[in-house]
Amino acid sequence: MDRITIFDTTLRDGEQSPGASLNSKEKLEIAWQLKRLGVNVIEAGFPIASPGDFASVKEVASKIKGPVICGLARSKKADIDAAFKAVKYSSRPRIHLFLATSRIHMKYKLKKAEDEILRLAVWAVRYARSKVKDVEFSPEDASRTDRRFLYRVLEAVIDAEATTVNIPDTVGYAVPFEFGDLIASIKANVPNIEKAVISVHCHNDLGLGVSNSLEAVKNGAGQIECTINGLGERAGNASLEEIVMALDTRKDLFGKKTSINKKELYKTSRLVSKLTGIPVQPNKAIVGKNAFSHEAGIHQDGILKKRKTYEIMRSEDVGFGKTKLVLGKHSGRHAFSERLKELGFHLYGKELDRAFKIFKELADKKKEIYDEDLETIVEDELSAIPQIYKLQNLRFTSGTDITPNAEVAIKVGRKTIKKSSTGDGPVDACYKAIDIITGIKGRLLDYSIKAVTSGKDALGEVTIRLKAAAKEVSGRGSSTDIVEASAKAYLDAVNKVAHRKR
Ligand code: KIV
Ligand code: ZN
Repeated sequence: MDRITIFDTTLRDGEQSPGASLNSKEKLEIAWQLKRLGVNVIEAGFPIASPGDFASVKEVASKIKGPVICGLARSKKADIDAAFKAVKYSSRPRIHLFLATSRIHMKYKLKKAEDEILRLAVWAVRYARSKVKDVEFSPEDASRTDRRFLYRVLEAVIDAEATTVNIPDTVGYAVPFEFGDLIASIKANVPNIEKAVISVHCHNDLGLGVSNSLEAVKNGAGQIECTINGLGERAGNASLEEIVMALDTRKDLFGKKTSINKKELYKTSRLVSKLTGIPVQPNKAIVGKNAFSHEAGIHQDGILKKRKTYEIMRSEDVGFGKTKLVLGKHSGRHAFSERLKELGFHLYGKELDRAFKIFKELADKKKEIYDEDLETIVEDELSAIPQIYKLQNLRFTSGTDITPNAEVAIKVGRKTIKKSSTGDGPVDACYKAIDIITGIKGRLLDYSIKAVTSGKDALGEVTIRLKAAAKEVSGRGSSTDIVEASAKAYLDAVNKVAHRKR
């Protein structure tokens, strides 16, 4: 099987993403990870752009051994000199030259005619070749370049010994069948094309970066330029993880291999997202948080019976961890009971029916149901938690000009223990007194109170979440007295902690 060269430009085009500036240390960290990922070429930066860029290309070239290290340069002497000075520390240095060839760029941006562009391109390649053996040339805005002129430029730069010719869809304008046709026509019309590798560099302005790159592979491209998480100028570049996984998953169609260590894909995506500060959208293919999560009951049931019913790739293969069945209102009984089993609760028959009903009621109110919610459902509703501590009596004083104080009496077995404490308010004083009696010190994570009935004499229901002994538990209590309801809720939670400890 032929190999496709993966040219990663996260550190150059990717860093051109608005807001994605990286310092030298961060670039080096990403470069190490790209090496672990197994990319063939790392475009480490644009050395002439700034002293910082120069320094980081030089550092990557000096420290990262294995992949080709590439520096970008306009077709100008100063750029080529800077690129060479930075990449020469690599054992496999490459200079990547670019020069616009489309009519609109030549006329308005460069103010140069075709012949001058052609001459400059050839000169730049020869000059770069006098410094390094590996030179890539990009006719910028190739997809909007007059085809006959493009063939002439490519033939001339290959004659000047460019080793790779890169066809950029600079503004993300091409559509797949058109871009594929462009690559096929280059193969057919540039006489010396076999002497160079055809590369593609597709921007994502129409969301077609990956599709265009794959179409190019089908038509003879041997190198793909891409970025982690699809970062890059404007809407970004073709995403490396999507290209690699498309080639791998559909090798039946493409018959091409890459050297990428797929298990490093997710980790690389996380690292790049963390260091650039650009989050990955949850539904992003391959590396998004939801890429391997199933919520619909029918899908979950299918996955549990045979994974391939709804999965074309294995999440573990991209380093993602296990496929996740997200429990929500669309989930079915099968996924629900499987998750309970994973948590150590084996419910069957009526018990399972009741728990499932409660789960569905909760899922209507809450978007995602977490494992703690499931534990609470099972413990609250199904198992009778023994009341190790029972509230026997409660007295408190509070007011605008006195320190709140609570005296709590709790029955523990046959004994009654009474303690008092002050606090910020009567509820706080009461909780502190309970802590002294039980010896379980919990941290209150959440406290809410609601009226169960209407009117001034409404029954108040207090719900809390408590963290104690490295566990999170919930507690509920009701009374017409809200301090008493609070004490009951707290004791309810404390009883769960004590029960688990036992
Ligand atoms: O998009 C583009 O044309 C580029 C070139 C420098 C290859 O990034
Ligand atoms: Zn680009």
